[in-house]
Amino acid sequence: MKETIEKLLSEVEQLSAANAEEAEQHRIRLLGKKGVITALFDAFKTVGPEQKKEFGKILNELKNKASEKIEVLKSSTASTAASHSEGDLTRPGEPLPLGARHPLSLVRKEIDAIFTRLGFVIADGPEIEDDWHNFGALNFPENHPARDMQDTFFIETAERNIALRTHTSSVQVRMMENNKPPLRMIMPGRVYRNEAISARAHCFFHQVEGLYIDENVSFADLKQTLMYFAQEMFGEKTKIRLRPSYFPFTEPSAEMDVSCSLCAGEGCNVCKHSGWLEIMGCGMVDPAVLENCGIDSKKYSGFAFGMGVERIAQLKYQVKDLRLYSENDVRFLKQFTSVV
Ligand code: DAH
Repeated sequence: MKETIEKLLSEVEQLSAANAEEAEQHRIRLLGKKGVITALFDAFKTVGPEQKKEFGKILNELKNKASEKIEVLKSSTASTAASHSEGDLTRPGEPLPLGARHPLSLVRKEIDAIFTRLGFVIADGPEIEDDWHNFGALNFPENHPARDMQDTFFIETAERNIALRTHTSSVQVRMMENNKPPLRMIMPGRVYRNEAISARAHCFFHQVEGLYIDENVSFADLKQTLMYFAQEMFGEKTKIRLRPSYFPFTEPSAEMDVSCSLCAGEGCNVCKHSGWLEIMGCGMVDPAVLENCGIDSKKYSGFAFGMGVERIAQLKYQVKDLRLYSENDVRFLKQFTSVV
């Protein structure tokens, strides 16, 4: 009996199982109702009292070792089974959800690209401005309504001359003050106005300012540049129209319309049956503005223009409510997923 037990002990030590089923078969063979170890316990009942002590000890040891070993085999095969079902490495991967660019970024990117092709560089300026850069240098008279509390978000200071910029024309001033002509740049950015938020107005929006200063720059250069822009942005059949207008910082000033790309100028709801859509203000930089910024107005002339990014996006993507741009509603934003 002692020999059988010792043989079984070394067998138990070397037990192995490739899966949970094999481990269970070992259990049945050794410890099941008809198992070999169970049979040894039956045989143990018949041994004499003097052998009981010796056999009892090693038989119990065998039983404990066998149960332990089978437990170990079961848990290790169970974990390999779980890890197998976790990953079939030959399966194709899960598709990654695709993000979307914001429509204003898409339009901004396109505007940047069009003017960069014409040799314009991109410049930047602060959103918190002083009165001189936002108004004074640009020829706004002291009592101009645009300086009024109604339009401008003032920042409380002792002098009350600091505000959130109301337009990107302030960056023009900074560029002219700090650089020598020739200057050819666009200045995109966010601007702020104290307006009630509605479908057609917002307290912040985005503009792109343009500035070209050199010797002998003429209104014809302005017109040609803007025509190129309009046709690149809205299609090569697009026509432009310049209507006389007024801005304190340009003389002469104009407002530019493009032919309605939806009805090709025939007249529809979007262009209010006029066939034209207003998209920007422009003009020749007023000589007084050049002088304010330290540029010799006898030697240099230039043109400037300013457009609203929301307005261009509205026309390109038929966005009827300005609030959609800043509400972060994924149902709106998702629609731009496929637009590169
Ligand atoms: N700053 C003007 C606005 O916010 C837009 C503008 C008009 C900019 C004419 C210009 C310009 O540079 O020449 O309404």
